[in-house]
Amino acid sequence: MKYKIRQETIGDEAAIKDVVARAFDGKFYADENDALLVDGLRNAGALILSLVATLKGQIIGQVALSPATIGDARYLCVGPLAVLPDHQRKGVGSALMGHALGVAQVYGRDGVVLQGDLNYYSRFGFEVFPSVTFTGEGAEYIQVLPFKETPSGDVKFHPVFSG
Ligand SMILES: CC(C)(COP(=O)(O)OP(=O)(O)OC[C@H]1O[C@@H](n2cnc3c(N)ncnc32)[C@H](O)[C@@H]1OP(=O)(O)O)[C@@H](O)C(=O)NCCC(=O)NCCS
Repeated sequence: MKYKIRQETIGDEAAIKDVVARAFDGKFYADENDALLVDGLRNAGALILSLVATLKGQIIGQVALSPATIGDARYLCVGPLAVLPDHQRKGVGSALMGHALGVAQVYGRDGVVLQGDLNYYSRFGFEVFPSVTFTGEGAEYIQVLPFKETPSGDVKFHPVFSG
């Protein structure tokens, strides 16, 4: 049976939190804030998109979009992106990202930005730009996929990401 992708609905909240917690569990870059991010964005009215991948009715993956800025430009942040360990390496993460990027492109912003593994996200077209700065931790993991102009300036994510 193939997984399906849909927008989150009421009642998905706990399963989404569980997927993020289990996907990030034990990763060196994880912290206790990760599982709370989607709830935090939703509660702040900043969850622009929250897609889930389901298999036999069970949520096995998720991706979120929220507002971000780079300098004066209006971007969307992609993240968290998470797939349950037992379901990784089957294309679910790529499918979630593909759908999220499609929505982002029609949403009318200047591009998408995220903080994450350089090897993984380059396949989707994300790049590190020397003209983009970040004052938080892990500035070297900031990657941008601009839809228009070369990005320039400081990245600001929603405050929920700062814990
Ligand atoms: C990253 C993640 C979402 C990828 O989901 P997925 O469903 O396994 O991804 P896909 O099946 O679409 O792609 C798998 C490919 O990505 C690669 N990949 C997965 N995670 C990777 C990582 N952290 N760095 C580099 N490559 C990675 C796999 O090696 C595989 O490559 P291959 O197809 O050439 O063998 C998933 O591994 C995950 O939830 N990880 C833990 C949470 C996390 O790190 N999230 C991203 C940070 S926000």
